[in-house]
Amino acid sequence: MRQKGPSTRLIHTGEFKTPPDVALTTPIYETAAFVFDSADQVRRYQEGRSDRFLYSRYGNPTVVAAEEKLAALDNAERGLVFSSGMGAVSTALLALLRSDDEIVCAAAVYGGTYKLVNDVLPGLRIARRFVTLDELREPARLIGDRTRVFWFETPTNPTLRCVDIRAVADACRARGVVSVIDNTFASPINQRPIDMGIDISMQSATKYLNGHDDVTAGVLTGARSRLDSIDLMRRSLGTVLDPQAAYAMARGLKTLPVRMERHNRNAMAVAQFLELHPRVARVFHPGLPSHPDHAVAKRQMFGFGGMVTFEVDGGLAEASRVYDRLTLIKRAATLGGLQTVASLPVLTSHWGYSDEALERAAAGERAARLETALGELPAVYREVLALRFEEDMKLEEIAGVCGAPLSTVKSRLRRGLEALRRKLPAEELR
Ligand SMILES: Cc1ncc(COP(=O)(O)O)c(C=O)c1O
Repeated sequence: MRQKGPSTRLIHTGEFKTPPDVALTTPIYETAAFVFDSADQVRRYQEGRSDRFLYSRYGNPTVVAAEEKLAALDNAERGLVFSSGMGAVSTALLALLRSDDEIVCAAAVYGGTYKLVNDVLPGLRIARRFVTLDELREPARLIGDRTRVFWFETPTNPTLRCVDIRAVADACRARGVVSVIDNTFASPINQRPIDMGIDISMQSATKYLNGHDDVTAGVLTGARSRLDSIDLMRRSLGTVLDPQAAYAMARGLKTLPVRMERHNRNAMAVAQFLELHPRVARVFHPGLPSHPDHAVAKRQMFGFGGMVTFEVDGGLAEASRVYDRLTLIKRAATLGGLQTVASLPVLTSHWGYSDEALERAAAGERAARLETALGELPAVYREVLALRFEEDMKLEEIAGVCGAPLSTVKSRLRRGLEALRRKLPAEELR
């Protein structure tokens, strides 16, 4: 028999001939397609009578493993993962809306979602109606005869305002409108919208779900019937997540509960500390009694998340100076990872917004956003304490810059540190 050439040998040798041994974790199926034994097997697949896979854009074992974890986390029947959060948003909207339909969309949503709804949907003859947080207090009044989808986010970026999830779910159910929440800022550890009657929960898995700042991904969870039709749109648009990224995200997911617990604790402590800081004008964190939506947050969240937003006197110019002076805290436009990052929303997620749009989106011009890290709290405190000041400044100099008596500065810092001590185990304060 003729010897096989090197190409043939390289292509065929060592590939699966029988199913591999059962691996302890789901391996990365980095393959474009799957092998069938017969035409009958292919037919059974096409008729939905088989668990096999055909082609990775339609389905892939590594991707499905991640989807099943996400569905379980949300108590949902099905999960779908996408190449990015915006891949999830766009695929869902194109699957759910037809021309002459209307979408009701909160003005306080992620900037990318806002732009898609505002700039792209009208070209498809889909009407959009942006609503303020005040209007969202009475969701039933916002639904019209043509409304098919109700899209909102809670907590919102950057002021972490909260919308009553059950009220939106009930209003939508009563009128047969599909309710969709962007649950990115809470994660299913802190907030479970499907349990509250929401039809579809969307998240940028780039954030808490993956949790390591190294994957871009999106997710939708909900009832099987709805997600099945979005799956068909995902096949057409090709917005599925790659198996390698799905593997990394599913690996990150396994530690989500532990990470969220730490995010919740750290952010709460940073928020309380910032409230005492003499140069911080206002702090937004849903766990603070001073937050306008603290009561709603307490009712519907299990924890308040890792985000803290604060304003300094002096507007964007002063916020930019604080931002430029950060050393340990990285200037980066993301959240939910292991590192402490800071961003200025008007220069990132809300770039290009008019003053009126910023107002409607509840995003003040001055807000700096801080995402707390998991394990470096004392260092973050030191950096927050030094906000606007040189790092090795003496208390007398801080008092001079603040225009406050030395005794006031000292007592505020003492109270801050005491509050910290009550919240954290001693070893974390070292
Ligand atoms: C709340 C929210 N939704 C959606 C997105 C879009 O997700 P992605 O960047 O993964 O496409 C983001 C991104 O920052 C976000 O913060």
